[in-house]
Amino acid sequence: MRIGFISDIHGNFTALEAVLADIQAQGVDQLICLGDTVSLGPQPRHVLNALREWNAATIMGNHDQAVLEPQRCAEFEITEHLIPDLYWTRDHLPEEDLRYIAAFSATQSVQFENGLQLLAYHGSPKKTTHLVLATTPVETLNDYFEGQSASIFIGGHSHVQMQRRHGNTLFLNTGSVGNAFQFAYTNNIPPRLVNWAEYAVVEQSGNSFHADMRRVYFDIEKLLVQVGVSDLPGAEWWFRQYKNHSA
Ligand SMILES: [Fe+2]
Repeated sequence: MRIGFISDIHGNFTALEAVLADIQAQGVDQLICLGDTVSLGPQPRHVLNALREWNAATIMGNHDQAVLEPQRCAEFEITEHLIPDLYWTRDHLPEEDLRYIAAFSATQSVQFENGLQLLAYHGSPKKTTHLVLATTPVETLNDYFEGQSASIFIGGHSHVQMQRRHGNTLFLNTGSVGNAFQFAYTNNIPPRLVNWAEYAVVEQSGNSFHADMRRVYFDIEKLLVQVGVSDLPGAEWWFRQYKNHSA
C-alpha cells in the first residue's frame, strides 16, 4: 500500500498543483492531508477544491482551527502579524468550505497489511500546536505520544521534513507543501522559506517499509502573480521571501 502525505499547504495552490502532479506520477492508493490547508496563501478555495477532488482524508491543523474560530487564534498559536491573513482567508471562504474544514479529523490511523500501524496527526496526537523536531527531548516525545500503540508516526506543523527513529518507533514529518521553512520556528526567530514544496510517500510492500521524503520545485513566479492579484494583507511577506530566489 502506498500513501501520499501532504501537509501545511497554507493556501499556496501553485505549490499544491506541482505536488499533486508528482503524486499522480508516483501513483498512490490514498492521499492523507495533515492539516493547515488554508490561511497565509492567496488561493484557499482552489486548495480545498483540490482536496475534495482527490478525496483526501484531511486532519485539522491549528490554522484550520483558527480559520473556524478566529477569536481563539492566540490559543491556536497564530503569530500576531498573520492574523489579518487569517481573517482575509475566512472572508474568502463560503459557508460550504467552512463546513468542509469543520469536518476534518483529529488524527488518522492506518493499518498496513503486515500489521504495522501508523498514526497521522498535525502537531502531535495530543495537540495541533505541538512541535516534534529532530531535537525534541525524549521526555517531551514520551509525553506527546503517551499511550499510543502505533510504531510509525507522521505529522506536519514544523514545516521541516524529518525522519527520526527512536527505539522501535519512527517519527516522520512531511515538511510543508506551501510554506517549507529553512529552519523550524523556534525562539521567535522569523522563518525563511525554501524554494520548493515538500511531501512524503510511505509504502509497505511484502516485508519492506519505506518512507520517501520528496521535494518538488514549483513555479514561484506563478505563485507571486497570484499573490499580486489578491488583496492579501500579507502579500509583501511573500514577495520578500522569494526575492532573488534560485533553485
Ligand atoms: Fe502550518
